[in-house]
Order: sequence, then C-alpha cells, then structure tokens
Amino acid sequence: MSAFLQACRGEPTSFTPIWLMRQAGRYQPEYRAIRAKVSFVELCKNPDLAAEVTLLPVTQLGVDAAILFADILLVLEPLGIGFEFSKGDGPVIHEPLRTTAAIDAVREQIDARNSLDYVMSTIKRVRAGLPSGVPLIGFAGAPFTLASYAIEGGGSRDYLHTKQLMYGDEGAFRALMHKLTSAVIDYLNVQVESGAQCLQVFDSWIGCLSPADYGRYVKPHMTRLFAELDKSVPHIHFGTGTATLLAQQMEAGGDVIGFDWRVELGATWQQLGAKAVQGNLDPYSLLAPRDELKRRASQVLRSAAGRPGHIFNLGHGIFPEASVDQVRALVDHVHEDSQR
Ligand code: CP3
Repeated sequence: MSAFLQACRGEPTSFTPIWLMRQAGRYQPEYRAIRAKVSFVELCKNPDLAAEVTLLPVTQLGVDAAILFADILLVLEPLGIGFEFSKGDGPVIHEPLRTTAAIDAVREQIDARNSLDYVMSTIKRVRAGLPSGVPLIGFAGAPFTLASYAIEGGGSRDYLHTKQLMYGDEGAFRALMHKLTSAVIDYLNVQVESGAQCLQVFDSWIGCLSPADYGRYVKPHMTRLFAELDKSVPHIHFGTGTATLLAQQMEAGGDVIGFDWRVELGATWQQLGAKAVQGNLDPYSLLAPRDELKRRASQVLRSAAGRPGHIFNLGHGIFPEASVDQVRALVDHVHEDSQR
C-alpha cells in the first residue's frame, strides 16, 4: 500500500507522505498555458485536459497523492443553482438562495453518475495515467461551505446572509443543508465507484461559526454525511479556522482531520486523540527564502514527532504567486527530513 494511504489509516510509514491542496493551479506555467485556451469551467468539464492537469504535479513535484482537478461548486449545477467564474472576482451565483421558495426549488437528487459524468471520466483517465503507488483523492465541498456560496452569491467575509437565514429560518436552512448533504454523499460515493482511493471533504469556511452553532446547525449533517460515505476508502475532514471546532469535527467523522497553521500540530493532535492528521504549514511560508521555508517545514515535522498517521500538507491551498521551484523544494525537503 502507498505511504499516503497507510498514513491515512494511522499506520507507520518509512517517511512522511506529502501532497498539497491546490497543487494544480495558476502558480504552474503549464496550467496557465492551458487556461489561456479554455475557461476554468471548460477545463473542469474536459476529462482529457482535467486529467492532464491532475497528473502534472505528480511528475513535476513528486507528491505522494494526486487530487482530482475539479471544483467544489460543480455540484451546484445539477442541484439547479446556476453559477459562473467571473474574471478576477471568483465564483458568482446567478440567483443567491435567500428565500424559502428558492430553497424549495433546489433539487432533492442529483444522480451524480449522469449529471457529473465528466468528473467520473476524469477520474478513470487519471487512474489509468497515475504511476502505481500514487493514489487519487476525490473530493467535494461540505454542505455548510457550499450553502455559504449559494446563499451569499459568492465568496464572503462575514457570512451575513448565511447567518441571517440560519438564525432567522432554521427550518429553511436545515432543508437546504439536507439537500446539499444528500447531493455530496451521492457525488462522493460515485467518485469512489469510478476509482477515487480517498475522499477529502472541504469545509473551508466553517471557521466563521461558534462551537455552539456548529453543533446545532452543521454537525448533524456532517455526521450523516460521513456515516453514509463508502467506507472502503479513507476520509479526510478539512476546514480552516477550526481550532475551537476540531473535537466536534472529529466526532462527526473522518479518518484524517485537517489542521490549518493556527494550531500547534503536535499538542492539538495529542489533545484530540485523532488517528491521523493532515497539515499544517502556513502556505505563505512558500514566499520565505529557501532556508526559512525548510526550517518551517522541519518545525511541522518535529511537532508531529514521527508519530504514525501524519500527512504533510499546507494549512490551506497554494496561491497563484507561489513558485514551482519553492513547492518542489518543499516536497523534497519533507521527504528527506522525515526518513525513518
Ligand atoms: O487542489 C487541487 O489541486 C484540486 C483542484 C481544486 C480546485 N478547487 C481548483 C481551482 C480543489 C480541490 C478546489 C476546491 C475549492 N474550490 C474550494 C475548497 C478549497 C479551498 O480553497 O478552501 C473552494 C472554496 C473552491 C471555490 C473556488 N474555486 C473559489 C473561491 C475560486 C476562485 C478563487 C481562486 O483561487 O481563483 C475557485 C477557482 C479555482 N478552483 C481555481 C482552481 C485551480 C482557479 C481557477 C482559474 O484557473 O482561474
């Protein structure tokens, strides 16, 4: 079995496996060249190109896992929530969900096998092209993070409309979360059927909630989600700004818990008693001089102290201004410095 999958199961490995969120993206000249010809959504919907972009970091960086090239928002289309990626502004939802009627109109089922067949074709192509020993991670957005986009109409700083609906009409919010959860379960399980060997659930914006609100409005849906996922592959439960939510996230489910850089990895791992953890270098460490980058990566490794079940990653995704050389140096350094 690959070091990555062994670490997901909390088993000892001869080095610490590493992959990076957003390891395929605009920081790579090859990615930018493809994007000069097709839009982001066209790229996601073209299995040949999406597979090529998924495989690129594996050869270019030597990472220990590939992640499907797609986006968390693609699942909104079959739910009947239209969106586009506008130049510079990120995602834009055509008609943000702000009323009971709008939420009632969201579909109950998405039939991911058919409605998201292009994702399944990408997965099959990637599996055929991956070197043996490098597994493929499938993924989806978590219901709250998806709901926040659907309600706000795009990215947000304060989640004003989301909280207004959540606090003002709990039944409507719950109904939306229920539909999103059903869609994500279907989507992820069909990804496994198509060849995904691990699943990561991105609850990127969950850190805006208090522990009490997480417990009341989100946790029941996350518990249902993880309970209904295909258990033949490991599940990674990821969020940011989650220092005060990690224990509840762990109770909700996931074999691996993602940490961002705001927590001290070793102490937090110990406290939680998690089987396996993923993280947690500050992505902007990639802007530091090479020696400082290596020192910071080694600090994360020392904090994990070689305990079985550590997957090295950034605390959030790579950003467009990062350099391929720095990212490659990080991967090499983690491999060298963690040899056991
Ligand atoms: O990690 C990978 O390499 C796999 C591909 C991947 C993308 N998005 C590609 C992408 C994954 C796993 C995602 C997940 C995703 N998408 C998340 C959760 C992870 C996170 O960052 O918290 C979120 C919140 C989104 C929504 C999203 N997609 C936003 C807000 C944006 C615009 C901001 C930006 O970075 O441009 C995107 C676009 C996007 N998704 C790009 C890529 C490579 C850039 C698109 C481009 O080429 O212009």
